[in-house]
Amino acid sequence: MQPIINSQISSLKESATLSINQHALKLRNEGRDICHLGFGESPFPVPDPMQVALRENSHRKQYITGKGLPELRKAVADFFHNKFGYNYAAENVFIGPGSKELIFQHVYLLEGPLMVPTPSWVSYGPQANIRSKLFITIPTDIKNGYRLQAEELDETFSRQKFLQSILILNNPNNPSGSVHSSDELQDLAEVCRKHGVIVISDEIYALTKFGSQSFEGIAKYYPEGTITTSGISKAFSAGGWRLGFAMIPNELSEIVPPLSAFVSETFSCVSAPVQYGSLPAFENYENVRKHVELCRDIHEAAGEFLHQRFIEIGLNCPKPQGAFYLLPDFENIKEKLKSQGVQTSVELTKRLLDEAGVALLPASDFYFPDDFLGVRVASVDYNGAQVLREFPVNKQLTQEGKAKLFPKLAEACDRIETWLK
Ligand SMILES: Cc1ncc(COP(=O)(O)O)c(C=O)c1O
Repeated sequence: MQPIINSQISSLKESATLSINQHALKLRNEGRDICHLGFGESPFPVPDPMQVALRENSHRKQYITGKGLPELRKAVADFFHNKFGYNYAAENVFIGPGSKELIFQHVYLLEGPLMVPTPSWVSYGPQANIRSKLFITIPTDIKNGYRLQAEELDETFSRQKFLQSILILNNPNNPSGSVHSSDELQDLAEVCRKHGVIVISDEIYALTKFGSQSFEGIAKYYPEGTITTSGISKAFSAGGWRLGFAMIPNELSEIVPPLSAFVSETFSCVSAPVQYGSLPAFENYENVRKHVELCRDIHEAAGEFLHQRFIEIGLNCPKPQGAFYLLPDFENIKEKLKSQGVQTSVELTKRLLDEAGVALLPASDFYFPDDFLGVRVASVDYNGAQVLREFPVNKQLTQEGKAKLFPKLAEACDRIETWLK
């Protein structure tokens, strides 16, 4: 029998990030020496208090109410209030199996087109497609580190008017590592207010913002229209635990009952032991803060190392300010690459994997035009537990010192440099 499949689903490809990971790991298993800069998974261990809590709660077997464990929802709301000044009520916090699923549920539930800046994370577009939603990409400028500017957003509305529209703002950003300044957020907030935009602020990397200055999110300046999502996958290195959350402002609380019903008819609830295991991260952040900040400092050192090498090699690349990604491009040597048969970022990443053994993602997966020769670099191909032990806290590291800490990253840069000669 030939199954007839929903065409919105049959036209989907496997998520680009997950499939490059499988491919690079397969090549490694076949014995090829691969520098795997394609997949953004935190390499560090989950903080001890979370691991202990998970073990101690392994006997919990009951379903939990769909919105999530009340203590966890309160701890998350309090944490984001104390840390970033947000004012979300605990009853408007949803715990889900990763923020990806919760973003999807909002994209599904809310009417109106989905807007994202270019570049943006690979999964937003396919999520809009599943719902046959109009997906609008807003070009940004490398001069602004690919951060969406208020005028660029405003310009989008000068061409079209919508009853309602949704903007996903991912800050710190995957794939560019950029972080919005307070001024930029205030200006964006004004434009969002003017056009009544519902913002989904994807802050999964908020605690990985580099430097001592605290992260700021758009909810601070546009509280009435911002749904903030985050989770434990990045700063707490627990991607496989599958726990994320979404926080809805009181002004949008009409979303809460239908979202509760949607959750109850789909994933029901997040695994009970995982919810208890995540509690210490937010209830007693002080206990895990040092670990989280050390991981952040290591991400910064790795990002700075790669940035400096990319500039030396002659690539364009904004300096990352958070997360564990960079977005260099080979536009300066476009003609030379063209003469070698490389015309698109997909061809570029394929050649770099086949000929240099460096796994990267093409910029076209992040909504750039096919012929823009950019690549998304993940800076986490190292042994996290070992680097945590060896990282010289409070000491300035030289490029050579960083190359020793991150040998695969250094090797990847050398290979790209040699491949370009
Ligand atoms: C920008 C961005 N948003 C959301 C997610 C999903 O995170 P979660 O593990 O909470 O589903 C990721 C994971 O790679 C991401 O990079």
